[in-house]
Amino acid sequence: MSRTILRGRVLTFVSEPQGRDDVGSYRYLEDGAVTIEDGKVLAVDDYAMRPVEGAIVIDHRPHLIMPGFIDCHVHYVQMQVIGTYAANLLEWLNDHTFIEEQRFAQQGHAGYIADKFFDEMLRQGTTTAVAYCSVHPASVDAFFAEANRRNLLMIAGKVMMDRNAPEALLDTAQRGYDETTALIARWQGTGRSHYAISPRFALTSTPEQLEAAATLMREHPDCYLQTHLSENDAEIAYAMELFPDAKDYTGIYEDFGLLGPKSLMGHSIHLSHRETAVMAETGAVAVFCPTSNLFLGSGLFDRDRLRLAGVTIAVASDIGGGTSYSMLKTLDEAYKVLQLRHQRLTPLNSFYMMTLGNARALGLEGRIGSIAPGHDADLVVLDASATPGMALRMETIDSLSDELFLLQTLGDDRSVVETYVAGTACKPSSGHARRGG
Ligand code: GUN
Ligand code: ZN
Repeated sequence: MSRTILRGRVLTFVSEPQGRDDVGSYRYLEDGAVTIEDGKVLAVDDYAMRPVEGAIVIDHRPHLIMPGFIDCHVHYVQMQVIGTYAANLLEWLNDHTFIEEQRFAQQGHAGYIADKFFDEMLRQGTTTAVAYCSVHPASVDAFFAEANRRNLLMIAGKVMMDRNAPEALLDTAQRGYDETTALIARWQGTGRSHYAISPRFALTSTPEQLEAAATLMREHPDCYLQTHLSENDAEIAYAMELFPDAKDYTGIYEDFGLLGPKSLMGHSIHLSHRETAVMAETGAVAVFCPTSNLFLGSGLFDRDRLRLAGVTIAVASDIGGGTSYSMLKTLDEAYKVLQLRHQRLTPLNSFYMMTLGNARALGLEGRIGSIAPGHDADLVVLDASATPGMALRMETIDSLSDELFLLQTLGDDRSVVETYVAGTACKPSSGHARRGG
């Protein structure tokens, strides 16, 4: 049985930070040892206390060793529409994205992009993502086959959409149900894979299809549900036209029984007090996608109002409406969105959100999102001096919190020294780690 010890500055959260200097919210070891065996964390302690005989020691000092990042909403099939020029969400979807997604009918294309997607995630230190595939089952097969080959913990599903899109992207309520059922049977629980039932949003699903999605949820309570909610004014108006009996946009999903603790509601920007209360009561998760919300001009997520109402909040890149694969850059933009709302996002809170916070939102906090004995050894190693500009700024920084803020503000994939998946180094074309023993 091979044992690996990662030596470095170990940082992991144990609770949501309350305020800028909440030292009780995290555990930090200045010269720490993360011992890994069989893909799992065996122990976390001071390096000096850890017997190293028989183990491979990888010395990452002076870098930070943290849990791998988690991205709670990303469209892997949109990698080639990132940065497409469009006035707003509906133009971006109709004129560009719905064209692009048609290419995923071909398994070969889906496999090509899936491979690039996981390379990119690992380059950015993201070890778990919740992904939308296209309407085509082949796009899901390509995704999970590659995720399993790389031993990644991934969550994904085929979008169900049976109206208001090009013919080539439509299924039917029955076909969406049948294909989703077959995909769940094929992939849920294989390797580290989890399935997300994925009615795309109220605009592209008939009432019959939302009903079918609810049936799938009841039949497969272990699966997630992901969809989009209240992103853009024109989208909201059209949703209310299509479902005139609903109280509001959230009410559409509520009426079909689609809200629950495993329901991941992308965007959730323009919610009324009633909608916020329903989200809190049902435990549905609001997924904040800052780079996308800015790029598409969708609006400013009201984190404090949702949090005060008791809504669980996750954070995500929303590639390809989003403009960065990096969770560091995603939280950098989250910070700016909240600045415009006069809400504070502390550096500790940012790093909590992209690790333990997102793991908790997914109900996976016993497996990922923190570095603790028995947890999966999905880790990222970060260098806050990765570029000359960062190194210069680091000369004036003497606290962990400020170092994290620098990583968030100026960092990107260049700050990711290594990414470990179940204990194995996986960052594409990396080679920074110093090996010792
Ligand atoms: N709403 C429905 N589909 C999409 C999508 O692909 N991206 C975004 N940002 N919003 C959506
Ligand atoms: Zn989305």
